[in-house]
Formats: sequence, structure tokens, C-alpha cells
Amino acid sequence: MGDFEPRFTPTDYFRELTPGELFQASDRPLEVDLGCGDGTFLVEMARHYPERCFLGVERLEGRVDKVARKIKRSGLTNARVLRLESSYTVGWLLPAAGVSRLHLLCPDPWPKKKHHRRRLVADLEFQGGLERCLTPDGEFLHKTDNPEYFEVATGLFDQLPAFQRLDWPEDSFFYPRTDFEKQWLAAGRTIHRARWQLKK
Ligand SMILES: C[S@@+](CC[C@H](N)C(=O)[O-])C[C@H]1O[C@@H](n2cnc3c(N)ncnc32)[C@H](O)[C@@H]1O
Repeated sequence: MGDFEPRFTPTDYFRELTPGELFQASDRPLEVDLGCGDGTFLVEMARHYPERCFLGVERLEGRVDKVARKIKRSGLTNARVLRLESSYTVGWLLPAAGVSRLHLLCPDPWPKKKHHRRRLVADLEFQGGLERCLTPDGEFLHKTDNPEYFEVATGLFDQLPAFQRLDWPEDSFFYPRTDFEKQWLAAGRTIHRARWQLKK
């Protein structure tokens, strides 16, 4: 555990990863938190589910550094963080049929019309990538405080033939609040959530 490196840097950014490159315990279910921010959710999940492995993906260097330090301090060896763009990671890098759950929690909503094309859920590389990297019964879980983003996400994913919507009642399983979610709830905003499963 002494030499465990929480920050994951691919040796080659242009080929698909194998599960063994990410975690030594490559037989354990892998979960990915896209845009993991300060890593609150990632670390709590890793602590609660020691039998699973968690990869956070984040593009901002300062946040990646913070998450890596948080993982190191916690002594966890089932969590790592990768500094990269989410759509590319999902589309090209993650192991094929290797991710059991993919979390997209409070993503940047890009509310201005001219920025809508930057929205992750509307990105075809991302949508195709989800099908590519999820395990046959893998899940995509999404939360946002932005009602319009939620409408777009549900409109798109409810219609994708490869996915089916699952119920997600509050407290149906351990799922800690993220840093942004806590802030939005404290500000009186509503959090919308949806969960889809890849059809086998
Ligand atoms: C609104 S914050 C939410 C952070 C965290 N998920 C939470 O709920 O507390 C969005 C995060 O996603 C990161 N992010 C935005 N777009 C990204 C992308 N395309 N690839 C990787 N990270 C991204 C941002 O840097 C930021 O840390």
C-alpha cells in the first residue's frame, strides 16, 4: 500500500485500457465518476464499497491534485483519479464492457444556447462510448439541479434503444451526496435524478 499511486496516468492515451492497468484487483467491479470535482462522492463510495474500484475523471489540474491527496490521506487503494476529458475517456479509453456503473453528477449545465453542444449527455461520442464501456447490465446514473439539462438527458437516454430506465427511489442504496449537490440543496434547489441500465 505504501507505493500506491492514487493518480492514474495512462502509458498510452491512444489505446483502450485493460482493467489490470487501472487497479491490481482487476476482477472487482469498476465504477467511474465523471467530473468528480473535489472527490467527496468518490472517496465516500470507495470507503463504503471496499469490494469495488472507483475511478474519478476530472479535467482541472487543481481538483485532480486535491482528489489524489484526499485518496492518499484516506489510505484507500480502491480509488484513483485521472486527469482527462470525460467524453474522450468514455468514448476511447475505458476498457470495453469493463465499467459496471458510470456516474454523471451535477455536470456543468452549459445553459446558454450557443454552448449547448458542449453538454456531455448530448455528445454522440459520449453516448456511443457508454454503450461501449458499460458491462452488459451496467448502469448510467445521473443527477442535476438544472431542470432543462435533466429534460434533455432524459429525452435522449429514454429513447436510446440500448438503454432502459430503472426506478431510483430515494435511499434505495447507499449513494452519498456530492459536494455540488449539497450546495444546491442548501440553496433550496431541487435535485433531479435518473438511472438507466444497458440492455443485455
Ligand atoms: C459542477 S462540477 C460538479 C463536481 C462533482 N461531480 C459534484 O457534484 O460535486 C463539474 C465538474 O466537472 C468537471 N468537468 C466539466 N466538464 C468536464 C469534462 N468534459 N471532462 C472532465 N471533467 C469535466 C469540472 O471541472 C468540475 O469539476
